[in-house]
Amino acid sequence: MDEIKKNFPIFTSNPDVVYLDSAASAQKPQSVIDAMNDFYCNSYANIHRGLYNWSENASMLYDDVRAKVAKFIGASDMSEIVFTKGSTEAFNLLASSYRSLLIDGDEIIVSEAEHHSNFLPWKDLELQKNIKIKYLPILEDGSFDYDWFEKNISDKVKLVCVTAQSNVIGLKNDIGKIVKISHNYGAKVCVDGAQLTAHDKVNVSVLDIDFYVFSSHKIYGPTGLGILYGKKSLLDLLLPYQFGGDMVESVSLDKVVFKEPPSKFEAGTPPVVEVVGFGAAIDFIESIGMDKISKYLSGLTTYLIAKLSEISGVKFISSMDSNSIVSFVIDKVSSFDIGFLLGKNNICVRVGKHCAEPLHTRFGIDSSIRVSLGIYNDKEDIDKFIETLKKVLVMLR
Ligand SMILES: Cc1ncc(COP(=O)(O)O)c(C=O)c1O
Repeated sequence: MDEIKKNFPIFTSNPDVVYLDSAASAQKPQSVIDAMNDFYCNSYANIHRGLYNWSENASMLYDDVRAKVAKFIGASDMSEIVFTKGSTEAFNLLASSYRSLLIDGDEIIVSEAEHHSNFLPWKDLELQKNIKIKYLPILEDGSFDYDWFEKNISDKVKLVCVTAQSNVIGLKNDIGKIVKISHNYGAKVCVDGAQLTAHDKVNVSVLDIDFYVFSSHKIYGPTGLGILYGKKSLLDLLLPYQFGGDMVESVSLDKVVFKEPPSKFEAGTPPVVEVVGFGAAIDFIESIGMDKISKYLSGLTTYLIAKLSEISGVKFISSMDSNSIVSFVIDKVSSFDIGFLLGKNNICVRVGKHCAEPLHTRFGIDSSIRVSLGIYNDKEDIDKFIETLKKVLVMLR
C-alpha cells in the first residue's frame, strides 16, 4: 500500500497537501485519467448511433463497463445496471418511478441517518401521494434501532431506504438483516452504497438487495456518473423518468414503445467518457483487491481514532467501529473555525452537516468535523493532521 499514493498525480504535484475528504469525493489515479484522455484523443464518438468504427468501439466500451459494474457488485445480469449521473439522480429516478406503484396508505421506512439524497426524494413523494414515511431511529452508538424496525415493519410498508454506511457515522449496517425482515412483509429494500462501495466488497445477489445505488467519483472514478442497480423483475415494473433519444423501440404520433431496461432509463447522450473512466477505476480497485483496501483503511481508521482520542474535548459522532469515516466535535470550539484553520494549513477536512441534517439534529449538534480516508492516505497524513489540529486548538482555546 506504500506505493499507492504514487498512482495519484495530484499528490505528486501537491506534496504538502493532506487530503482527508475522500467521503466527499476521492482523488483519481493516473490510469483513470489516461483511459479518459486516450478515449478523447484516439477514438471518441457517441454510442449506439454510428455505423463507423469509433462509434462501434465507444458502444462496445460502454457496454463492457456495464458488464464490469454488474460483476463488481454481484448483479446477475448487466441489464440490471442503470447508468445515472450520480447517486442523487439514482434515488430521484427511483422515487419518481415508484410513484405509480404506490397507493393511498402505503408506507416507506427511511432511516434517520440518510444523506439528503436518499431522504428528500422520498419526502417529496410523501408530499405528492397519500403515503406515510416512518423514520428508522439511530441508537446512541450510531447503529440502527433494529428492535424498532421489527416492531414497525408491516405489510403496509412497500419500500425500506437505508444506507449501508452513513457518511457521518461510518458504521457498516446489517443490510442482510434489514433485507430479510423487509422481505418477510413483501417490502423492497433500496440501499445507499455511496460510501461502503469505496472500501467493501458488496454482493447484491447474496444479500438479495432490491435496489443499490453508488457514485463513480467516490470510488476513484470520474464525476457525473452513478449507478442504480435494480433486480430485473423490478426495473421492468418501473416507468422511465426522463424521455428522449436511445430509449425507445418505436415512436409514432399515437404510440410509444420503450426499450427494455436499462436503456429505457438512459434517455439522451450518456456520459460515455466518464463510463470509460469508471471502468478504469474498477480495474484499479481490483488490481489492489477490495479485501486489502478494506483491511488497510480499517487499520488506518483505528489509528486515527486513537490519535484523536488523545486530544482533550473530542467527542466522536462516528462509531468506534467505523471504516474510513471519523466525525467529531470539540468541546467549546467552533467546528467551522477548526476546519477553516486546518484548510489554511493544507489539511483538507469537511465541516458542516454533511448533507445529513436529521442525523445532526438527532445528536443535538449543528455541525461536525469529518475526516475521511482514501487508499492514498497513510499514518504520516494522520500525524500531520493531528499535529496541525493541536496547533489550531492552542490558537482557538
Ligand atoms: C452516503 C451518501 N449517499 C449519497 C450521496 C450522494 O452522492 P452524489 O453526490 O455522488 O450523488 C453521498 C454524497 O456525499 C453520500 O455520502
